[in-house]
Amino acid sequence: MDNTITADVTPLFRTFPFGEKTLRNRLVMSPMTRQYSPGGVPGANMAGYYRRRAEGGVGLIVTEGTCIDHPGSNGYVNVPAFHGQKALDEWKRIADEVHLAGARIIPQLWHVGAIRRPGMEPDPAVPGHGPVEVIENGRVVVKAMSRSDIRDVVESYARAAADAQRIGFDGIEIHGAHEYLIDSFLWDVTNQRDDEYGGDIEGRLRLAREVVAAVRAAVTRDFPIVFRFSQWKIRDYEARIARSPDELRRILLPLAQAGVDIFDVSTRRFYEPAFEGSPDSLAAWARRLSGKPVITVGSVGLSKAYAIAQLRGNEDASAQRAELSLVCGQVRSGAVDLVALGRALLADPEWPSKIRENRQSEINDVDRAALKTAV
Ligand SMILES: Cc1cc2nc3c(=O)[nH]c(=O)nc-3n(C[C@H](O)[C@H](O)[C@H](O)COP(=O)(O)O)c2cc1C
Repeated sequence: MDNTITADVTPLFRTFPFGEKTLRNRLVMSPMTRQYSPGGVPGANMAGYYRRRAEGGVGLIVTEGTCIDHPGSNGYVNVPAFHGQKALDEWKRIADEVHLAGARIIPQLWHVGAIRRPGMEPDPAVPGHGPVEVIENGRVVVKAMSRSDIRDVVESYARAAADAQRIGFDGIEIHGAHEYLIDSFLWDVTNQRDDEYGGDIEGRLRLAREVVAAVRAAVTRDFPIVFRFSQWKIRDYEARIARSPDELRRILLPLAQAGVDIFDVSTRRFYEPAFEGSPDSLAAWARRLSGKPVITVGSVGLSKAYAIAQLRGNEDASAQRAELSLVCGQVRSGAVDLVALGRALLADPEWPSKIRENRQSEINDVDRAALKTAV
């Protein structure tokens, strides 16, 4: 395969406004879970890990998913918390180091919802929390959330956002994608509630809207709120929360009105058409329908799409460099605003600098070891 990268990359290196601050370029580090935070406290290597990506030239870092202070928010071992003095002290240090290297940084605020199972840290007795009850082997493993559970989660998101601003982050990202809590309310396959949090799109969107509004009220107006959403789910890459542009508009406009500043549109292949009859990507549609800036993501600069099976070792994780002219053209034309990189930045923290300095041939390929990087 010819991996020569001949694109004019200058659009990627134009600045972009971010609240009252500025991003030095259009390149974003996509949120990536690492599981190197025993006891929920960001581990010793973490500041160096993020600082290296900042030094490598990325404009904005979205941290790995980090748990809000609701008891059911965590679903995996050694994931960092975004609450408690110790964890927040470490997060502040990470943000400070990233700033010294010239990048901006926002935490991805996470509640895993029904993905959690009893036995998981921090309190093994706590089940998953989701739109509806889930019973496995005669045991309730996911609790159907009551109105008061929902209120607790909404307030927990707001507290995390206020903490992020207090300790010096540049904004926050709400994880509303990939079948985790907020997305599981949005998706009609996982949400069969018959109260005001279920039913039609407006009902299924209510939790997301309440979270955004509570976060908006907890931070200053100029503090950017990024909202990540996706069509794809952990268990179903073909899933849809919006089957048409009109359904997408009914999801995004209320979120924009509630306070979202930027949509992070999570796709596995940024170039794929979102709906029949148009070549436009989901990110391009989201921009047009919401009137808000968007982040595009998914196989940018890489020959193969991300899949969960690659993390679990059931699928070959290797990926090679790919051409950048399409994504550069999308930024140049204004179809999208920002471009996120996931695996490419794990394999090579210096990806942005190498692209900018025309050193593409020096970029590291992605492999399974890169997906597990501790550094
Ligand atoms: C190791 C790994 C961990 C990830 N963890 C998260 C996460 O915590 N939150 C999230 O929204 N997406 C997560 N993702 C998805 C990425 O943010 C990104 O959307 C995906 O990798 C596609 O981008 P890429 O093709 O540039 O890798 C993860 C991806 C990888 C490879």
